Formats: sequence, structure tokens, C-alpha cells
Amino acid sequence: MTDLVVRRLLIDLEAPFDRHWCNGDAFRTAFFNALSMSFPVGEQFFIDSVRNGYKQLPAAEQQKYKAEVQGFVGQEATHRRLHALFNGHLEKQGLVNHWAPRSQRRLKKMDGVHPRHWLGITAANEHFTAIFAEWMLENSDLLDGADPRLKTLWLWHSAEEAEHKSTAFDLYQALGGNHEWRIKWFRRVTVMFLADTLRQTVSNLRQDGTLWKWSTWKSGASYLFGKRGLIRNAYRPWRDYLRRDFHPSQQESALSSRWLAENASAFAAVGA
Ligand SMILES: [Fe+2]
Ligand SMILES: [Fe+2]
Repeated sequence: MTDLVVRRLLIDLEAPFDRHWCNGDAFRTAFFNALSMSFPVGEQFFIDSVRNGYKQLPAAEQQKYKAEVQGFVGQEATHRRLHALFNGHLEKQGLVNHWAPRSQRRLKKMDGVHPRHWLGITAANEHFTAIFAEWMLENSDLLDGADPRLKTLWLWHSAEEAEHKSTAFDLYQALGGNHEWRIKWFRRVTVMFLADTLRQTVSNLRQDGTLWKWSTWKSGASYLFGKRGLIRNAYRPWRDYLRRDFHPSQQESALSSRWLAENASAFAAVGA
């Protein structure tokens, strides 16, 4: 059981930011922007999965998860709100979010399907998020030179993702979700997540006029496949999810509590 604190981030996201807010780097900016575009729809789905899954639990089990579910919903709702503000600026910059309507169409197919399956999808996505979060916190210096408000936004989101990474997984199991379906959803989510990220990043770069610049490809190659690259370092934790005895808590998240302790002035706990 985790104590999930809901935090209000003390940054001003009303003021606009640079087109290349990530230290002038077109690739990284486009990549982060793409991820952000998926959050409001994705995180609403995670909230709905956890809420609806929770309702299916017997009363005694509900008691056990009550506080954690509230914390999860509060954290994801805050992420959604801030990323919607962030995405509003992207829209003004002329970027077009193709990812959100595509996921909305896809998720429509889940109407009427048992929440256990919603949770299978959510747990798979949360594993991706947790891998990305851990990598971000470990390589936080790669955000040096970025707009400081946005550096805080991404690291705070990462820290909270690490905190609540077990919630959907535990509910999936509490509802009797099996290993086979967990893996089936994980494979599907992997293909869709990688394809969607790639498509939206390319679209953002094209819109920005930087798709065919040498510097864009050079940055992309080192950011994803270099020694500290995301994809190169994500493979092993990705594969761990396939193990029968996998649990999200087995993966490291000390950096999350450290970041939260060192950056306490950046947020206020809600209801504290
Ligand atoms: Fe989130
Ligand atoms: Fe999450």
C-alpha cells in the first residue's frame, strides 16, 4: 500500500514558452510535446479504469484500496489538467494533436468491456510511464537548459508516476486478471505506444519545419539509442513485465522520493 499525496504544482503555466523549450533542441521538444499530447485522454482512461475497477471489488477489498485509489485519481487528474494547459500552448504554436482523437476512437471499443481489461491496458501503460519516469529522473541533467517551469513539470510528473506505478497493476490482480491477458495487453500497448509516439513526434517536427534537419536526427539518435538513450536503457525493464512473478514495486524508484524531498518548494500538498 502506498500513501499517495496529491500535489499542486507551484508553476505558472499560463505564460507561453519557447517553440524549442527543451534547450533549443527540436527533436527533444517534439518528442516531449508528443507525449504530452497523449496525456489528457490517456490519463482520463487510467482514472476511469481505476475507479470502475475499484467499484467491482468486494467491500472488504475496497477498504484496503480506498486511500490509494483516491490518491491515484487525484494525481492523474492534476497531471491531466497541467498537460492540457501545456497542450493549449502547443496548439497556439500551430502543432496539431492527432494522437488524442485516435486514442479516443480506439478506446470507444472498450465500452461495455469488463474493467479488468481496462486495468490490463492501464497497468501496461503505467509500466511504460514508470520506465520513462525512472529514466527521466536518472537523466534529469538532460533537461538542463530547458524552460525551468517545464523541467519541474516533467520531473514532478515522473516522480508521481513512480509513486503510483503499482495501483492499476494491483487492482488488475485483485479483480482476478490473469498473466496471459496481462501480457496480451502489454504487447498491444507496446506496439501502439511506439507507433503513436513516432507518428506524433514526426508530425510535430514536420509542422515545426525541422524534420529534415541533420541536427534533429543526430539529437534523436543519441537521445533514444545513445549510451544513456531511452530505448537502449528501457529494454531490460520493458522485458521484466513479461515475467510471471513481475510486480511494479520490484523496480527501483528511490529517485522519485529524492526528487520530491529536494524540490518540496515547487509544490504544495493538497489537503495537507
Ligand atoms: Fe500521470
Ligand atoms: Fe500514472
